[in-house]
Amino acid sequence: MDSLFRGTLWTILILFTLPHLTCNMLCPGSCLCNIMGAVKCVGDAITDIPHNLPVYTYLLQLNGTQMNIINERSLADQDLLLLFSLTYSHLHAIHPNAFHVAPQLKSVKLSSNDLSTISARVFSPLATLEQLYLDGNQLETIAPDMFEGLVSLLVLDLSRNKLTSPASDVFDGLTKLTFLNLGRNSINKLPPTIFHSLTNLLKLMIYNNDLEELEAGIFDKLVNLVELKIHQNQITILPPQVFWSLKNLKTLTLSSNRLQAIPEKTFYNMPKLTKLTIYNNPLLSLPDQLMGHMPDMTDLYLYATNLTTVPGNVFANMSGLLRLNFHLNDKLRELPSDLFCCLPKLEKLSLKSNDLLYLHPQLFSGLTTLGILLLNDNKLKSLPDNIFQGLGGVLTVDLKNNHLETLSGDTFLSNSVLKALHLGGNPWDCTCSIRGFAKWIRKHEHVVLDGQDVMCHSPVYQLLRTIGRQIRLKPV
Ligand SMILES: *[C@@H]1O[C@H](CO)[C@@H](O)[C@H](O)[C@H]1NC(C)=O
Ligand SMILES: *[C@@H]1O[C@H](CO)[C@@H](O)[C@H](O)[C@H]1NC(C)=O
Ligand SMILES: *[C@@H]1O[C@H](CO)[C@@H](O)[C@H](O)[C@H]1NC(C)=O
Repeated sequence: MDSLFRGTLWTILILFTLPHLTCNMLCPGSCLCNIMGAVKCVGDAITDIPHNLPVYTYLLQLNGTQMNIINERSLADQDLLLLFSLTYSHLHAIHPNAFHVAPQLKSVKLSSNDLSTISARVFSPLATLEQLYLDGNQLETIAPDMFEGLVSLLVLDLSRNKLTSPASDVFDGLTKLTFLNLGRNSINKLPPTIFHSLTNLLKLMIYNNDLEELEAGIFDKLVNLVELKIHQNQITILPPQVFWSLKNLKTLTLSSNRLQAIPEKTFYNMPKLTKLTIYNNPLLSLPDQLMGHMPDMTDLYLYATNLTTVPGNVFANMSGLLRLNFHLNDKLRELPSDLFCCLPKLEKLSLKSNDLLYLHPQLFSGLTTLGILLLNDNKLKSLPDNIFQGLGGVLTVDLKNNHLETLSGDTFLSNSVLKALHLGGNPWDCTCSIRGFAKWIRKHEHVVLDGQDVMCHSPVYQLLRTIGRQIRLKPV
């Protein structure tokens, strides 16, 4: 009995004191250690890796420290360490043999430091390394064999550096890589074979650089790629078929470049595409065949271009589109009559702030599921009588800030669920022909949300909804 009791007490004592010991006695100053082996150290007092770390430390995070150099022995005697991170610490040098003593590392994060050069093959002992973060440094070049030997690498982040023209073989051998970030550098040239080893890559980021062109064939081996971000460059021209190998691509961003034209069939063979951005390019025209079958596309943004019109079939292959934002194209004057022919699921269509003068009577006839239609801030002078006839489910129509002078009293006859209509900012001409429409407005005052701003510009300046009523009050 006695010995059993003592045994139990001993166990209780161990249970109570072990975490206590771990936290207060084995954990170095400026650090927090948890009993699972995660250690986090912060602050200027840290100038090298603390020597008295718990022996079972597997995760070591140093942030905002004065550790500017990783020495030959800094990482020694940490056999169980798997994840090492040293960030925001003005790190500027890594000893060429710094990682020889820690070949077991799985993740190395050196983000937001001052590294401007890293000696070649410094990471080469790390044959099991899966993640390497070098983002937010001052790297201008990458030695050709910098990543040699990293045969297990899955994630490589080189974003926010000063890279200009990486060599064609720098990523050779990284066949397991799934994520590569080169965004926010000053890259002006990428050799055509630079990505050819990366057959397992899923995400490639090249946004915010200075690329003026893409080489033909550059993405040809990236058959598993799901996300490709090339927005915010200076690209003026795309080689034909440059994306044709990307059969698994879901996201492609090309916005904010300098494209004036896009070659025919550029977006063919991407049946899984769900996001495509091409806005903010000085596009002058689009080819007759551009978009391949892409039934999963739900949102398309095509704005801030120099387009004056588009081919009638440009959206025809996007049968699953829910929202089309085709606006802020200040030179867009004309829309082909069949442009929205094949969008059976469209819920929102924004054509606001274009330069539209005229709409074809059949333009919206196929949009039976449309709920929101924005036509505000154009130059529409009149509308065909039946233009909204097919829009049985439309809830919102915005016509404000156009050049409309009159509308037929039957314009919204078929739109029985209409709840919000904006008509202000138009120079309504309140002579006899508008009486039918004025009557409709009075009947639907709750629908015309900006009724107080719907003014007649002629023959006298007055509220449009008072037209007709006045005439009835003062019969001639
Ligand atoms: C690291 O330090 C930076 C700058 O002091 C701070 O912004 C960041 O949130 C810190 N990160 C972590 C994970 O503590
Ligand atoms: C729609 O996609 C199919 C298959 O990719 C293609 O053959 C067809 O030409 C495309 N239509 C248009 C209008 O581009
Ligand atoms: C596109 O339009 C902008 C603004 O009107 C103009 O400055 C620019 O020169 C145009 N670009 C082309 C390629 O026409």
